[in-house]
This record gives sequence, structure tokens and C-alpha cells, in this order.
Amino acid sequence: MPKKRFALIGAGLFGEIHAKAYSAHPEVEFAAVCDLDEARAKEIAERYGAAKHCTDWREVVQEAGVDAVSVATPDFAHAEIAIGAAEAGKHLLVEKPLAATVRECEQIISAAKEQGVKLMVDFHNRWSPAFHEAHRLLREGALGTPRFVYFRLSNTTFVPLKMLSWAERSSPLWFLGSHAIDIVCWLAGEYPERVYSAARRGVLKERGVDAPDLYQSTLEFPSGTVASIENCWLLPESAPSVFDLKCEIVGSEATINIDTSSNRTVEVVDAQGTHYAEILGGPLIHGKQLGFMVESIRHFADCVIHDREPLVSGEVGLEVTRVACAIEESAERGEPVVIVR
Ligand SMILES: NC(=O)c1ccc[n+]([C@@H]2O[C@H](COP(=O)([O-])OP(=O)(O)OC[C@H]3O[C@@H](n4cnc5c(N)ncnc54)[C@H](O)[C@@H]3O)[C@@H](O)[C@H]2O)c1
Repeated sequence: MPKKRFALIGAGLFGEIHAKAYSAHPEVEFAAVCDLDEARAKEIAERYGAAKHCTDWREVVQEAGVDAVSVATPDFAHAEIAIGAAEAGKHLLVEKPLAATVRECEQIISAAKEQGVKLMVDFHNRWSPAFHEAHRLLREGALGTPRFVYFRLSNTTFVPLKMLSWAERSSPLWFLGSHAIDIVCWLAGEYPERVYSAARRGVLKERGVDAPDLYQSTLEFPSGTVASIENCWLLPESAPSVFDLKCEIVGSEATINIDTSSNRTVEVVDAQGTHYAEILGGPLIHGKQLGFMVESIRHFADCVIHDREPLVSGEVGLEVTRVACAIEESAERGEPVVIVR
């Protein structure tokens, strides 16, 4: 059977993970890379063995030989490309969040349905061993009835001030909170019906980036479960890891505590301080790219190759965006928002 041909649109920091995953997959031909920055497109194409590179995404989606594309452009630049790719009959893996409005998510989903192509959103924490295990224990009933989920995912100021050129067009809610919402809802097994959130600005603005500093959000689920989600971009750069992820799930019979950032599995102490090696997301082990960040992309490739349905659908992406929009609205209005579906 000829190899399926995959392409990447948006070859930035995270797009490179897609290039790594596709180029390492034995049944995939990593065919093309597109980025507005031609030098970057060329660099990633050469590094991961893609024959073609270009700067216009339309060239990639119009190429008859391409079966599937990853969209890893900034959040605000997902929708047009994803809709265009679906309309051209390409299977689609879209980085999180699927899109920044409910309407755009619906348009992507309906374009994919009309063309009969697969659509997956890259909520890769579902492949993280920690959350996979928590989900398994919950489904087995080991916790009894879930009552409360606490989820904190924050970054040091390095992310908004130095890493993310489009931080002002994003926020800790969209960049980090989208992961948190997805995992909390996946663990709870339902979507919230009411949210309340408080956001603050000021610290980052003073340092030259006009983005929110933080969101503190409460989600109420139909079964009575309550979740508390914290996302900020304010941690000091001297923190031992660029991200801080903690989760606590309290059930009627048991609790689970998760810490995937400062888990101290590998602690490096040097002249600059203490750092925790990132060994869960994307470690290179004896030359093989492993970790949950590449596993979700491999899963998408396997679904395309073997004609299976991806575990994270477009509808999941839509619901996460719906909740994020309600959180934003609540923070702006200063009152709870009921989510109407
Ligand atoms: N799954 C995760 O945990 C995770 C982590 C980081 C980022 N992301 C997501 O991945 C996406 C990319 O983030 P990033 O950190 O790599 O950003 P980035 O700024 O490093 O890369 C984005 C790239 O897209 C290119 N681009 C922009 N518009 C384009 C267009 N119209 N056509 C072609 N290329 C275009 C830019 O030139 C840039 O190289 C975002 O949606 C982000 O939220 C996901």
C-alpha cells in the first residue's frame, strides 16, 4: 500500500512537533511544509525530509497527492485554513483550540462532514500517562462520584514576553485554559452548564504585552460536579519549569493528585538553580521520538491510514471553545454565564 502523504501548515514552535511525528512514522510520507516565513518552511522541510515547502497554504491543500494536513498556525489563523483544507478533501489535525469562536468551529466541522474527512483537535494531554490513568480510575469507579476537580496550568512570563509573538491576540485562557477545559470535561464525562470567571490585566501590560495576566474560573456541571481552573502567565522565569500543571480530583470515595510539571522525576541543579527535565511530553529516547505530544499526532496519522475515527473529535473542540467563550464573557461581565447548547 502506498504511504499516505501528510503536510504541515504553520511550522513554528509547535508545528515542528508535527513534523517530528510525521517524519518518524513508518507508514507516513511527510510531503510538504508551509509557513508564511519561507526560510522557516524550508528549514523544517529540510530537517524532516519533506520534498516541498511553500508560503501559501492554498498550494498545499490544492495538491492532489496530499491526504492530510496539520494546521499549527496561531489560534486566530486556524479557521480559514482548516475550512479550506476540509473543502479540498484533506483529513485535518488542528492544533488546540479548534478556533476562537463557536461559529468558526461549526464551520470547520460542517466542512469536514460535507467532504467526509476526518477532523481531530490536538488536545494531547489525553495521551499523557497521568491523565489517562486518572480517566481510567474515574471510569472504573475508583473515586466514587466525582465532586470537585482542580486544574492549574500556568506559564512563566517567558511565554507571553519572549516566546509567543502573538500573545496579545491570545491569553492564558486560550493558550492554557483550552487544555484545562478539555481535560476537566473529559474527566468529568460531561460539559459545564454554568461558568463564572474573574480575569485580571496589568502586570504583563506594564512589561509591554497587552494580554490578560490571569483567569480564575469556576465550572458547574449538570451532575453537580464543580471544577476550578486557574491559568496565569505570571510565574517568574526562574521557576523550575516553563509550565506549572497541578490537578486534584476529589470523588466521594477517593482523591487523585497529579503534578506533571514539578514532579521531580529528573531534577537538575546547576548554577542557575533547579530545573525539571521535560520527560513526559516529547523525550528523544535512543533516537526515537516518544512522549504524549507526539503520540496524539501519531494517533491521528494511524486513524487516517487505517480509516478509524480519531479519539478527539471536532465536536470536542467546539465544546471547549464554547466554554472558553462563556468564561471570557463571564470575566468581562463580572457575573456567571449559563451555557446554552
Ligand atoms: N498542543 C499544545 O500543547 C500546544 C503548545 C503550543 C502551541 N500550540 C498551538 O499550536 C499553534 C501554533 O503555536 P506555536 O507556539 O507553534 O506558534 P508559533 O508562532 O511558534 O508558530 C506559528 C507559525 O505559523 C506561521 N503562520 C502564521 N500564519 C500563517 C498562515 N496563514 N499560513 C502559514 N503559516 C502561518 C507563522 O509564521 C509561524 O511560523 C497554536 O494554535 C497554539 O495554540 C499547541
